[in-house]
Amino acid sequence: MAKKGYTPKDHFFKQAKSQGLRARSAFKIDEIAKRLGILKKGARVLDMGAAPGGFLQVIADAVGPAGLVVGVDLAPIRPFTQPWVRTAVLDVLAEDFDGKLKALYDGPLDVVVSDLAPKTTGIRTTDEARSQRLAHKALDVAMARSALGGHFVAKLFMGGDFEEFRAAVKGAYAEVKLVRPEATRGGSMEIYVAGLNRRP
Ligand SMILES: C[S@@+](CC[C@H](N)C(=O)[O-])C[C@H]1O[C@@H](n2cnc3c(N)ncnc32)[C@H](O)[C@@H]1O
Repeated sequence: MAKKGYTPKDHFFKQAKSQGLRARSAFKIDEIAKRLGILKKGARVLDMGAAPGGFLQVIADAVGPAGLVVGVDLAPIRPFTQPWVRTAVLDVLAEDFDGKLKALYDGPLDVVVSDLAPKTTGIRTTDEARSQRLAHKALDVAMARSALGGHFVAKLFMGGDFEEFRAAVKGAYAEVKLVRPEATRGGSMEIYVAGLNRRP
């Protein structure tokens, strides 16, 4: 029997390792993309909070060489061999973020994905508020940069102003869906809010 406090490496962790994936979270974006049908060949995708690059691996394969993937994070991301993947160390909450993102890629985006997560403090209300601030930033970027008909997916912790965030996504996208992928750790408060088909 496992000792108290010991967390065994779970099924998704082992599967990610055996498939050469950088993070178990790769299974989350894979499930989300398949369920919602949002990653097409040739799509231009922004991944916010992309380190170490589990999502990026799945997105890069899905969009292929005709597509473009931009991944940004506070932490450095080990380079990708696929030339259609660009990464940068950026703080999405910094004042100059929007300009720096434009310097990386200034065209329209078909999909904006955010797996941004704050360092947790253990104080629930603080963690929820920080998570929601990051998700709102991702939504602001999506609203400024999305192509018509584009899609948006952002993780956030339930609670706090969650309903307000969902309403904001609803205002900008024709359809809103909530997804809790199977690879989400048991007991986690996180959920992905998806906005499908950016309104004019
Ligand atoms: C759950 S991890 C992302 C995992 C990633 N999706 C993957 O599949 O490898 C959340 C990430 O959000 C990043 N993050 C948190 N606050 C940030 C900020 N202000 N700017 C950029 N990245 C941030 C963290 O550095 C962390 O790498």
